[in-house]
Amino acid sequence: MPPNSRILAPTPGNLDRCAKLLAEGALVSVPTETVYGLAGNALREDCIRKIFQVKGRPLIDPLIAHVTDLSAAADYVAANAAAEILAERFWPGPLTLVLPKHPVVPDLLTAGLPSLALRSPRHPVFRELLKRLDFPLAAPSANPFNYISPTRAEHVERTLGAKIAAVLDGGPCEYGIESTIVDLRDPAHPSVLRPGPIAPEDLSAALQREIPLHGPTPPTGAQLAPGALSKHYSPKTTLKLVAHGSVDEARRKQAESDGCALLLNRRPTEWDETGDTFWLSETGQAREIAANLYDLLQRIDQMGYRTIIAELAKDEAIGRSINDRLSRAAAEA
Ligand code: TXA
Ligand code: MG
Repeated sequence: MPPNSRILAPTPGNLDRCAKLLAEGALVSVPTETVYGLAGNALREDCIRKIFQVKGRPLIDPLIAHVTDLSAAADYVAANAAAEILAERFWPGPLTLVLPKHPVVPDLLTAGLPSLALRSPRHPVFRELLKRLDFPLAAPSANPFNYISPTRAEHVERTLGAKIAAVLDGGPCEYGIESTIVDLRDPAHPSVLRPGPIAPEDLSAALQREIPLHGPTPPTGAQLAPGALSKHYSPKTTLKLVAHGSVDEARRKQAESDGCALLLNRRPTEWDETGDTFWLSETGQAREIAANLYDLLQRIDQMGYRTIIAELAKDEAIGRSINDRLSRAAAEA
């Protein structure tokens, strides 16, 4: 670790120090069970503005606020029965709920929208930090706008370290992809704004109704569908995709071009020993693929390849969320 690293172990002393920094208006990167967040006081405009600046994120893309539980959430949003059911079932955890906001929430946080995205994270380090604060934390993923989200403290340190006060190290993120976002502004018509670790089937089962996936909205005005600007989560290396299981096709394409890395779902039974083949899991299990996706993409992105050819995941449950991220990462604009 470089001597000037801002990475801090999550000791009680460092948690106190980070709580103090946040209370003073500084930004601290914090671990969550999904990805690392870039946290600041969600109720202070100067802190919110700093988050947008550090990420290079346009002000039209609203931020998620993080709270300990549904009763804390009630200070900031008008909950409804559907929100109570989902929070009861999935909080704390990788689920974000979009609800009508109260006036105390700065318009800057929500990009002028009358709704707020709220989440109660499960990561113990994040929860320890929240306990020390009397305000909610705004926290988008702690990556420069459009780059791959961070799933380890080192990812944050490398890309944003110089611009923030500290990175609290909570180890590698359990899920490795961003939370599922559900729009509950109208409880009679819930929809999924961003697929994530919690599968639509599980949401539907909890609410006992179908919950459609909201399509991308045009990139004008405040973004209702997250990542609506279709290019998102992207490596600098050109990324191309092949269908799930099309390993032979991927190999043919690799052989046709120079400097091409293969990113497969699972360890291949045989492979050439050139070192240009990478895999996201031993056995092809979707949870493992998601957990390793951003870390491996960032590592390959630094190896100097011209192209990465990635195999899509199986199109079911979490696999669909993985494919959403891969498709956005490969989008041209
Ligand atoms: O897992 C996560 O959700 C991570 C961790 C740090 O909690 N956070 C995260 O934040 O992914 P961010 O800012 O990278 O993505 C949040 C997405 C944005 O793309 C935004 O469009 C959407 O949530 N969003 C925020 N507020 C919204 C609102 N009021 N209505 C609809 N979408 C909203
Ligand atoms: Mg993000």
